[in-house]
Amino acid sequence: FKLLYLASELSPFAVAGGLADVTSALPKALKNLNQEVRLMIPKYKSINERKYVLREVIRLREIPVTVGSQTAIASVKSAFLPDSKVQVYFIEVGDFFARPGIYNDPKTNQPYPDNAIRYAFFCKAAIETLKKLSWQPEIIHCNDWQTAFVPVYLKTLYMGDPFFKGIKTIYTIHNLTTQGEFDVEVAEKIDFDKSQVKKGGMFYKDGKLNLTKAAILFSDFITTVSENYAHEILTDDKIGFGFREILEEKEDKFEGIMNGVDYAVWSPEKDKYIPFKYSKEEIEKKIENKKAMLLRLGMPFNEDVPVIGMISKLTELKGFDLLLEVLDDLLKEDLQLVIHGDGERDIAETLLSYAKKFPKKISVSVTYDEKMAHLIEAGSDMFLMPSKYEPCGLNQIYSMRYGTIPIVSPIGGLFDSVDDIDEESGLGTGFVMEDLTAESLLKAIKRALAYFKNKEKWVEIQKRIMEEDFSWDISAKRYLDIYERVMTGDEI
Ligand code: GLC
Repeated sequence: FKLLYLASELSPFAVAGGLADVTSALPKALKNLNQEVRLMIPKYKSINERKYVLREVIRLREIPVTVGSQTAIASVKSAFLPDSKVQVYFIEVGDFFARPGIYNDPKTNQPYPDNAIRYAFFCKAAIETLKKLSWQPEIIHCNDWQTAFVPVYLKTLYMGDPFFKGIKTIYTIHNLTTQGEFDVEVAEKIDFDKSQVKKGGMFYKDGKLNLTKAAILFSDFITTVSENYAHEILTDDKIGFGFREILEEKEDKFEGIMNGVDYAVWSPEKDKYIPFKYSKEEIEKKIENKKAMLLRLGMPFNEDVPVIGMISKLTELKGFDLLLEVLDDLLKEDLQLVIHGDGERDIAETLLSYAKKFPKKISVSVTYDEKMAHLIEAGSDMFLMPSKYEPCGLNQIYSMRYGTIPIVSPIGGLFDSVDDIDEESGLGTGFVMEDLTAESLLKAIKRALAYFKNKEKWVEIQKRIMEEDFSWDISAKRYLDIYERVMTGDEI
């Protein structure tokens, strides 16, 4: 297929969360399956043009793009995704992306007030770029609300344009906790039909203009990032935010496909960020990374004291309220806790105060650093994800490959990817909480601590989980199958 993959994040260029990993790994996997795939993302200010050797594309300079009554000039640069032949176009349009943050203004930690307009421009510019390039994809695969404009524009503004005739759109939901909700007045500014942003209108939901709803209704197929999350959306209105009805109308055009992992980036044999590479056969080398990590964090090292790692946004949705509830109890145990990630100020401050009080037991770094993330995967004994909401989750899967045993909540993609360790047989791939309570969290951690004391059993589990295979080619084939169905109209 000729395929355009569109997203607002892409690793390593612009990373805010797991979306960035998926948008770099899936296109690579599709390329390996001999598909012609190209990517487009906004050219954020933070993308280092020299480091990544972005090149100007002469043909794609100064493309006028009009959205609402505003016109801005787009220019497009290009580079390859590292270690691949996947071409990435970086779209600069006006000065919408010449800002320090991706979605949020770092000064206020709030979303930029014109985000709807910024991404409307990005999407319109992407469509115009295709024309300038004279490249006609058969499929445009969109991800999350920032790209929701594309299916809508193609089926409204560009409806009569022969260049786009027959192009199919796929829309992947990565997380329904951000849906692209805006005041209804924004409609005109983003070229949406005003009458559809009123009660009963297609783009209207819960008093707001809703871009996820628009994308679902206008795309030819919708996917989400694990089977269990797809199921949760269709059965639990709290998780699905009322999208159940909308998705049920799409009948068999909605599927969950588990994200894969790019093992070229996330495996201890090849990891360029960790000081000591290791494999299942040389698992004893893992401990050198633990030593290195603790040294870097200024914490004491003791082989027999388990380290629990967390790389996560510091939010309630990721379960930090549960963690804070049990933290005093937890710190009575013989363990060390390493927490890394950006997030809500209150949670960060509380955690930091613990780190100050117990510097040998808990380390908190409120930032995201790729290198540190890899070191935590390699250097920790256990990896904790007590999320209350987790469409897929990737770190639990990365952890398995590093022999770092996951402790997870029983929801979303965590449920699909981690099998609870059975007391009797010892089989399983991690410790799964019974439910979403602080009590269950403590219980699961204590179970893990007890296992850790039995070195032999522990190593056995480590070796088992290192063999788990979540490589992208399996999931990429499922996407190919959907592209096929959409192209042949089988799904209609
Ligand atoms: C979002 C979800 C996360 C998922 C990722 C990639 O960040 O919250 O669960 O793994 O998207 O699809």
